[in-house]
Amino acid sequence: MNKPYVYITRKLPEDQIKPFKDDWEIGMWESETEPVDKETLKKEARRADGLLTMLTEKIDEELLNDVPNLKVIANMAVGYDNVNVEAAENKGIIVTNTPDVLTDTTADLAFGILMAAARRIVEAADYIRDNKWDNWSPLLLAGSDIHHKKLGIVGMGRIGQAVARRAKGFDMEVAYYNRSRKYEVEEEGLAVYESFENLISTSDFVMSLVPLTNETEHLFNGDVFRKMKKEAIFINASRGKTMDEKALYEAVKGGEIKGAGLDVFEEEPISSDHPLLTLKEIVCVPHIGSASKETREKMMNLSLQNIQSVLKDEEPKTPVH
Ligand code: DGY
Repeated sequence: MNKPYVYITRKLPEDQIKPFKDDWEIGMWESETEPVDKETLKKEARRADGLLTMLTEKIDEELLNDVPNLKVIANMAVGYDNVNVEAAENKGIIVTNTPDVLTDTTADLAFGILMAAARRIVEAADYIRDNKWDNWSPLLLAGSDIHHKKLGIVGMGRIGQAVARRAKGFDMEVAYYNRSRKYEVEEEGLAVYESFENLISTSDFVMSLVPLTNETEHLFNGDVFRKMKKEAIFINASRGKTMDEKALYEAVKGGEIKGAGLDVFEEEPISSDHPLLTLKEIVCVPHIGSASKETREKMMNLSLQNIQSVLKDEEPKTPVH
């Protein structure tokens, strides 16, 4: 019997792939760093029974119109806005993602960029590197406190809850806004529910952890930034398109808010001439929320296991619906 064909859109380590080699024929894009080109992806998807994709691949309706054998798309990310799930499901293709295994790692990074922006850590490190440190002085690189301040989390899923736990450890006051109330979070004393309007206008730190959908695209726009406190710092660790980047730039430049910590951008990657990088009050990192070696290995393994389950006619561990 022919083995099923699985195409992996990025070069993954051999020790991850090896356990599946007896069961599948495996095709893999040759680069670890560059995404697969559209034509190759189309050609491989046309042949594949299973696809293991990254968030850099757009799996749209056009591509899904020509995948006669495809049974499963395992997206190696918790977010899956790059996959047209409805179109896939209409064709009976199962889509899976990688929740849980990355929750704490992503929360660590989200809290890390909050701290970096508040305490000007990147700017301070550059200060020494640029040989500017002549003296200690009372207000040299003075930032904002984190402890006892108010954090407003928009999007109280698993990662939001993990961030709230970290914030509690810093004696912060934590509020959240979510489409649906999370009573268990409130009962645990992790965060109090507030309306979006109230949360954005009273928080010292506003963090976007919402998935990208039609409703959340540009949720954080000029209007919203204007309603924030002048001292507020905006953090985005979900998807870049949940914010209007131009409006954020204007808000920080014009002193409407104090700064930002960003792991994600409207169009990725950004280059060194991006306007956001001209503002020292904004800390930018290149979409590394889940990027610890341990977690990335778990994400690879979970994606491979999900494909294995579907190809064996079993329930995958983490389907998106
Ligand atoms: C995800 O899993 O959606 C993250 O953005 C990837 O790090």
